[in-house]
Amino acid sequence: MFINKLELKNFRNYNELTINFNSSKVLFVGKNAQGKTNLLEAIYYLSTLDSLRAKNDNELIKWNQEYCSIKAEIKKFDIDTDLEIYINPPNRKKLKVNGLNKNKSSDFISNISTVCFTTNDLLLLRGAPDDRRKWLDNAIMQIYPAYQERLSKYNKIRIQKNNYLKNLKGNIQADTQMLDIWNEQLSLTGSNITFIRLSFLYELQKIAKVKHNKIAKDENLLIKYNSTILDDISSEKKFEHPIEYILEMFKQKLEQKKQEEIIRAQSVIGPHRDDVSYFINEIEARKFASQGQQRTIVLSLKLSELELIKEKINTNAILLLDDVLAELDDYRQNYLLDAIGEETQTIITSVDTLHFKEQYLKDVEIFEIKDNNVKLL
Ligand SMILES: Nc1ncnc2c1ncn2[C@@H]1O[C@H](COP(=O)(O)OP(=O)(O)O)[C@@H](O)[C@H]1O
Ligand SMILES: [Mg+2]
Repeated sequence: MFINKLELKNFRNYNELTINFNSSKVLFVGKNAQGKTNLLEAIYYLSTLDSLRAKNDNELIKWNQEYCSIKAEIKKFDIDTDLEIYINPPNRKKLKVNGLNKNKSSDFISNISTVCFTTNDLLLLRGAPDDRRKWLDNAIMQIYPAYQERLSKYNKIRIQKNNYLKNLKGNIQADTQMLDIWNEQLSLTGSNITFIRLSFLYELQKIAKVKHNKIAKDENLLIKYNSTILDDISSEKKFEHPIEYILEMFKQKLEQKKQEEIIRAQSVIGPHRDDVSYFINEIEARKFASQGQQRTIVLSLKLSELELIKEKINTNAILLLDDVLAELDDYRQNYLLDAIGEETQTIITSVDTLHFKEQYLKDVEIFEIKDNNVKLL
């Protein structure tokens, strides 16, 4: 798929902006703080309804403005689709596909898939569990758009359950009939999320192992899902657990944790507390891998995401590379650029063009980003 056009209004530092893309290789060049990442953030938002970095949609709106909009024209399987997001908090954001309102986020995000690779991702292994969950969830959405709705349903139930727990004020003698109802709902949606995450990681791992091997041939990469529901975190086997088993374990664990949850007034187990870890030759990468090894893992993961999406949805996702080339050594830079197929639209931000071989720059469309404006060079 391709993005042919991006139109922003009051988005971040841009008043009104229209960019037409005419190439599968796009480069945004500009000094720091000019708004390069903001452009990738807008495209990424179309595919996840989630910001790359803002915690709150308000941050996306240009200062002193009330709303912002992101519009795009996407070509997928030779069909053009117009997408439009209108953000005007506290109102619910409006989503339109070809001019028609969409209430379900999956009906919107199913029209565009991206893989985003930023300098922040290079810290994925060392970063907070929250970042790793966000990476995982947003990657899954690119393949199963309905996952977005399941995730928000789970989070809504979890928040309601937490409110209920707070009202109990730590009283373990209280009648917990209502808590049982929340737990029932939480385990139903939560086991589904766990199951989808496990299946995704299982498939991703198969590809990532091979990719990692191509860069580091003596290293065996293993991805583990650290579940708060399933005990055997070190086994690859749990990737095969049927959903009924996960549900059963979830219910049992919730029953065991009941008192603790009342006392702490929070949901202490479930996919919102799970994490992902990576091992090289059975040694945990977060603690023991060198910076280079960690970068190889992240690079393998991102390229695998791209390949898995292609395998599942039969078209290439749009690849967004934010400042990341400058952070990689020559060998990994070349590996990355060579691994991207011609059919993959790749949008790269960079301070300059120094990191690119002449061969690569030949068919690239270069835009200069300066003073809140974008100019085709
Ligand atoms: N909501 C906003 N309204 C106006 N300007 C913003 C907003 N959010 C960020 N900016 C501005 O955007 C710029 C940063 O853009 P960014 O895309 O991160 O730059 P780059 O990637 O080119 O370094 C900063 O100058 C910042 O002040
Ligand atoms: Mg940037």
